[in-house]
Amino acid sequence: AQERRPLMAANWKMNKTVREAQDYMAALLPRVDGLAGEVDVAVFAPFTCLSEVARMAEGSGVIAGAQNFFYEDSGAYTGEVSAPMLLDVGARASIVGHSERRELFCETDEAVARKTRRAVEAGLLPVVCVGETKEERDAGRMWEKVSGQVRAVVEGLGDAPGGSLVFAYEPIWAIGTGETASPEDAQEAIGRIRGLLGELRGEKFAEEARILYGGSIKPGNVSEIMAQKDVDGGLVGGASLEVDSFLQLVEAAR
Ligand code: G3P
Repeated sequence: AQERRPLMAANWKMNKTVREAQDYMAALLPRVDGLAGEVDVAVFAPFTCLSEVARMAEGSGVIAGAQNFFYEDSGAYTGEVSAPMLLDVGARASIVGHSERRELFCETDEAVARKTRRAVEAGLLPVVCVGETKEERDAGRMWEKVSGQVRAVVEGLGDAPGGSLVFAYEPIWAIGTGETASPEDAQEAIGRIRGLLGELRGEKFAEEARILYGGSIKPGNVSEIMAQKDVDGGLVGGASLEVDSFLQLVEAAR
């Protein structure tokens, strides 16, 4: 994990007006100044305030990102936004295949794979989410689910290097529930994902790809999660909405 730069990422989900986003960025930016080189910080904002977040983040080292996009570049896709459109407003990354999108908006493994590939080709850093439900975990099918999700993405990726994408292991039962995977559970799943990346694409790819944990990360549990050898950072919902708590998470990732 020494070679991979940690990444602490805020996923605002469907929260914040433009004004609230401005206030947040104005408070965050001076306080992450100087962290460049030690830890990457990303803010995944709703489309409506993304251009403002990107504009304010410019030159700061903070990565402005979207929470989703569609894999075609333009055309008759009412309600969708493309990778070139994200780049046009200054975004440099996007979450792909968050479990909320897979569940509520019917995103398939195939769509997630196409989006990931398009992001990499377009020069956006995809943060690809994978994870199992409580039922799947209890039935002993965690790895079947997660490995299938990872495989679909990697098989559709061509020969892109490991550094061109990020995975986030987000067990669905730990999202927004206050119930966190134990650090050992997080390490076990993430270590297995890294092992699978090695099988599919070789050691170098596996060593370069960053893998985050997501699911009820907060200041009180972040250090033990970050201490796990294969965990390269966090994707954070609730605890990223306030600058103070998000900064504590960023500090813990250094
Ligand atoms: O993408 C982050 C996420 O789904 C975790 O949300 O609120 O449990 O930190 P939360």
